[in-house]
Amino acid sequence: MAGRIRLYLGDLTEQAVDAIVNAANASLLGGGGVDGAIHRRGGPAILEACQQIRRTHWPEGLPTGEAVITTAGQLAARFVIHTVGPIYREHGGQEAQLLANCYRNALHLANQHALTSLAFPAISTGVYGYPANEAAEVVSRTLQESLLRDTSMTEVRLVFFAQQQLDTFLRHQKFTGQK
Ligand code: APR
Repeated sequence: MAGRIRLYLGDLTEQAVDAIVNAANASLLGGGGVDGAIHRRGGPAILEACQQIRRTHWPEGLPTGEAVITTAGQLAARFVIHTVGPIYREHGGQEAQLLANCYRNALHLANQHALTSLAFPAISTGVYGYPANEAAEVVSRTLQESLLRDTSMTEVRLVFFAQQQLDTFLRHQKFTGQK
């Protein structure tokens, strides 16, 4: 993947990329963690866009693993891709597949909008309780598989809020040496 995936320690909301990916909940109406930070710093335009999506496309809420795109409001990024991660042990053993879907669908949506740079938080590893070591395996395998096919994406950032989370990812990632 020729250096297209980079690990960062910092705040997702400060990433100057085409789109940042929000670890949202099904309501798309905001919450804590990354979701709260994005809405707080991005401003009301993001919530308004999410409310519009709820009215027009997902009246029952965004299903786990699905992704939608909105303006990024006042953030450095141009867009926010909202996805809903699995709550650990709440999806009958489908958690890994659903977490992979979050990353795959976010990349697919970015590709549909001709975006070339993306920044992900560690989806589901906070409030949703997904163990960071298990998530690292799912995320690294999914990104490697998707990026081998999608050559238009030139930069994928994995942004970690704490050094310990970044270190855990490094220890448990399963990237192979393929280019
Ligand atoms: N930048 C980067 N990473 C962050 C930031 C930030 N500003 N804030 C939190 N994180 C990290 C957390 O440390 C965790 O590792 O993002 C990861 C995901 O944590 P959560 O934000 O709690 O997301 P998640 O576990 O997917 O739970 C989603 O939490 O905030 C609510 O509305 C959200 O209900 C939804 C649930």
